[in-house]
Amino acid sequence: MNLSLTTEVFQSSQAISQYVENKHIKGNKVGFVPTMGALHAGHLSLVKKAQQENDYVVVSVFVNPTQFNNPDDLANYPRNIDSDLEQLKDTRTDALFFPSVEEIYPGFPAIKPEKSKVDLADLEKIMEGKFRPGHFMGVVTVVERLFEIVHPDKSYFGEKDFQQLAVIRRMVQQLNLPVIIESCPTVREQDGLAMSSRNLRLTKEQRTEACRISKALFYVRDNRNNFSIEEIKSKAISIIESHGMMKVEYLEIADEESLQSAIEWNQFSSLRCLTAVQIGNIRLIDNVKLTSGTA
Ligand code: PAJ
Repeated sequence: MNLSLTTEVFQSSQAISQYVENKHIKGNKVGFVPTMGALHAGHLSLVKKAQQENDYVVVSVFVNPTQFNNPDDLANYPRNIDSDLEQLKDTRTDALFFPSVEEIYPGFPAIKPEKSKVDLADLEKIMEGKFRPGHFMGVVTVVERLFEIVHPDKSYFGEKDFQQLAVIRRMVQQLNLPVIIESCPTVREQDGLAMSSRNLRLTKEQRTEACRISKALFYVRDNRNNFSIEEIKSKAISIIESHGMMKVEYLEIADEESLQSAIEWNQFSSLRCLTAVQIGNIRLIDNVKLTSGTA
């Protein structure tokens, strides 16, 4: 592991490609953490894992316009590159790739990027795929492009976005890309709320209310033996919606591998409970692993 004294900043694709190639020529392993910035301890946990497992670490900050199905969400997405760079320097990250939209998608928005050849099939139709049409195609498009530029040995993704992790694994498998995908556990605030760049947009009242999302998920995890799937889902939704400030978009108990919804506890060997919740005009997602085995 190399711990740099400063973080080199690259805006050009060619320059970051060259940087990584120079490391590879000397036999070094390069880990890569793609982000959209507004960095917090969740992102930094990915950086730390990447540092432990590689000689050099590259982080990208790019608010990817092709993955936002809602223009307001894109416009309001928090951007704070100065604070991001400070945090990366503190963690002694080697390199930051901070490209412009033009650098990643020449001619955008007039010229739309070429559609990825990846077939996401069912992953595009359920949960996040269903409620955010086009979102995962945008994620795949940008991550494929970033991998092409950075050529990492390993790349790191959070379980916080569990379906995204499945999408990335499917992409790597289908395109036979030479990169290993590593997953990292969700980092939470003290009251259980999953850290997210979107939390910055919550009012004080919404922020207090938002901890009910993880409370509901932990309730499912800890009480699964006492109820059917249908019963526990409706109890969890009540926990989230009871004060009238939050609305559940979906709350599913699904197979960790295929993400297919479970109707019976013993239908799959390992399960996860996943949810998306609307609070004001902010949309938050979270999930927890449910212990495996028959209830
Ligand atoms: P972003 O939301 O910035 O997240 C970057 C990475 O950090 C993702 O892999 C995400 O799962 C992880 N992450 C976010 N919050 C976390 C938390 N509380 N604990 C652990 N990991 C967390 O996800 C994206 O950006 C984009 O879709 C991207 C993959 C960069 C493509 O544009």
